[in-house]
Amino acid sequence: MSQYWSKLVHDLDPYVPGEQPKDQRYVKLNTNECPYPPSPNALAAIHAAADERLRLYPDPNADELKDAIADYYSVERANIFAGNGSDEVLAHVFCGLLKHDAPLLYPDISYSFYPVYANLYQIEAKQIPLRDDFSLNLNDFSGKNGGIIFPNPNAPTSMAVGLDVIEALLQANRDSVVVVDEAYVDFGAQTAIPLIAKYPNLLVVQTFSKSRSLAGLRVGFAVGHPDLINALERVKNSFNSYPLGRMAIAGAAAAMRDKEYFASTCQQIIATREMTVQKLTELGFSVLPSAANFVFARPPAGNAEALYLALKQRGVLVRYFNKLRINEYLRITIGTDDEMNTFLQILAEL
Ligand SMILES: Cc1ncc(COP(=O)(O)O)c(C=O)c1O
Repeated sequence: MSQYWSKLVHDLDPYVPGEQPKDQRYVKLNTNECPYPPSPNALAAIHAAADERLRLYPDPNADELKDAIADYYSVERANIFAGNGSDEVLAHVFCGLLKHDAPLLYPDISYSFYPVYANLYQIEAKQIPLRDDFSLNLNDFSGKNGGIIFPNPNAPTSMAVGLDVIEALLQANRDSVVVVDEAYVDFGAQTAIPLIAKYPNLLVVQTFSKSRSLAGLRVGFAVGHPDLINALERVKNSFNSYPLGRMAIAGAAAAMRDKEYFASTCQQIIATREMTVQKLTELGFSVLPSAANFVFARPPAGNAEALYLALKQRGVLVRYFNKLRINEYLRITIGTDDEMNTFLQILAEL
């Protein structure tokens, strides 16, 4: 607190990211990173971009990256917006598309950055409760609103909804923007990107941080009607015209083009997840049905916080949220088979 702070800064309630510890080596299952390295093609492209051209500004439009994404999803470059991680893309979405006279709707249990952006941009928001089993009931997202946002699969619950329910929502809600945050879609849900051709109010946001193993490069993107993309470009060009450096553009584009490597790491994570779910269930945990690269699980005694601390002491980091409704659950990122076996063995001992 300081007299030099603006009122806005006084009133902020910033997001707290999961720990990135520097004190010791942990089995790190707390921030939903991918346990496998990025595509070798992405690393080669990053190295190749690190040359004397770094003295020049990068392409402000990141066209090479937009073209790789457009090609992958069979859409046009004009349908793509790219930013410095999907968090930055989401920030521009809140500022440019979700601030209106009616309240923004999002689930009560969801990505904890949404209330932070709503507060930062002074957007009135209404939280819509998930059902008792933590499933998302999109029928409840009705009535006048200034926009709707939800992750699919949801975080931290890991549960996905089908495209049929998303399409029903879009049909019932044509007057405001519907944002589907697909940070985890590649691990078992269906992307809503094909629906953008039919619904000019649909925006899909994705990231390179999870399924493409590039959390450290900071690249995210949005796909939607050019009018929505144009709004994001206007915000971006009023904030930072060069959100992506040369290495980020080259590396992310190469990762997008390497479909084979991407498919093999996603498949491996899904297989490890199924093994983990089975073993956790055998240990008495209740595990929500996961379509993500993490699971959300309740220990048999509901003592999630104590277990989080005990695991940390034994060198395993998972994520615990001290929040009503979910304070008896742990969010566990899927690592390699070896990491998960270490985690499961320590868990069994505890
Ligand atoms: C639901 C959801 N959306 C977006 C993000 C942001 O990802 P990034 O900024 O790394 O692209 C995350 C990160 O954990 C997330 O869980």
